[in-house]
Amino acid sequence: MATDPLERAREEFLAALAAAGRDAARVEAVRVRFAGRRSGLLRDLEEALKTLPREAKPAYGKALNELKKLVEERLAAAQAQAEAAGRRPQALDVTLPGRRPRVGALHPVTLVRREIEEIFLRMGYSVADGPEAEDDWHNFEALNFPPDHPARDSQDTFFLAGGRLLRTHTSPVQIRTMETTPPPIRVIIPGRVYRCDSDLRHSPMFHQVEGLAVGEGITFANLKATLEAFVHVLFDPRLAVRFRPSFFPFTEPSAEVDITCVLCLGKGCPMCSGSGWIEILGAGMVDPRVLRACNLDPERYSGFAFGCGLDRVALLKYRLPDLRLLFAGDERLLRQFEGVAR
Ligand code: PHE
Repeated sequence: MATDPLERAREEFLAALAAAGRDAARVEAVRVRFAGRRSGLLRDLEEALKTLPREAKPAYGKALNELKKLVEERLAAAQAQAEAAGRRPQALDVTLPGRRPRVGALHPVTLVRREIEEIFLRMGYSVADGPEAEDDWHNFEALNFPPDHPARDSQDTFFLAGGRLLRTHTSPVQIRTMETTPPPIRVIIPGRVYRCDSDLRHSPMFHQVEGLAVGEGITFANLKATLEAFVHVLFDPRLAVRFRPSFFPFTEPSAEVDITCVLCLGKGCPMCSGSGWIEILGAGMVDPRVLRACNLDPERYSGFAFGCGLDRVALLKYRLPDLRLLFAGDERLLRQFEGVAR
């Protein structure tokens, strides 16, 4: 039969269209293959009409027209379906994990500062601060530094124009607090401090946190209990606290405070140079001369003060090997603190 090729073309077309499904690109490929103007199969079949014997032409022509109509209708339907499928939103899988937006991380020094503030807030302290550009009175004079004290040397202190200086410790805020607040005083004072010092273990800017308690009947025992509680909450309740006699111009008596090494718990390791102890604080009872400089009567009031390096505490707390990591601003370090909220 001369119409056999048409029948075959019809079957092929229907199979190809079924295989293309609702994929717009594949439906288009079927259109090109069968109904393409230049090389489509229908065009070839139309060409074939010319070569047929005259008596075969009417039947072939009729069948060809029917095939063309079918191809046109089915293609149009398939194109419409493919387009609708493209517009339909993809099914929503509610069990997929969400895409989490990246949030920044708090710096390890900020983390320990906030943690220390929180510990002391719970003990009834409040947070105080003061200027980083200080005057000689608050940074030295009122703190009982004699005029020739080596800490006043320009090798330790950054002096500013106009007689000011960058505070070398947070202790001047003790003075500012006692000058303005009547006892009882309980403050915790975090902040940046500056010393003309820069090597592997020292940065010209670093952080301290200072504590001050002034009132009637405050004793060295209160200082010890406060610092022990602090160390136990911040690090580990198993740590011992050791006081060694020391000297600061603004405290009497003064102590340097060690804690059991947080890494080896006292066994001895490179971190504590084998001693089992790490020094973390300076402390003492507020010197009567300092109280007097702030117009407080040392016969009535007493107090304790302590100061510690926040950066070192951050290194110990987060087991970081090198102070310089804290000031390098390297994202590879900071990213490790993402999600550590305080
Ligand atoms: N200000 C002292 C220092 O910078 C630390 C300290 C503070 C010591 C309070 C005793 C009391 O080294």
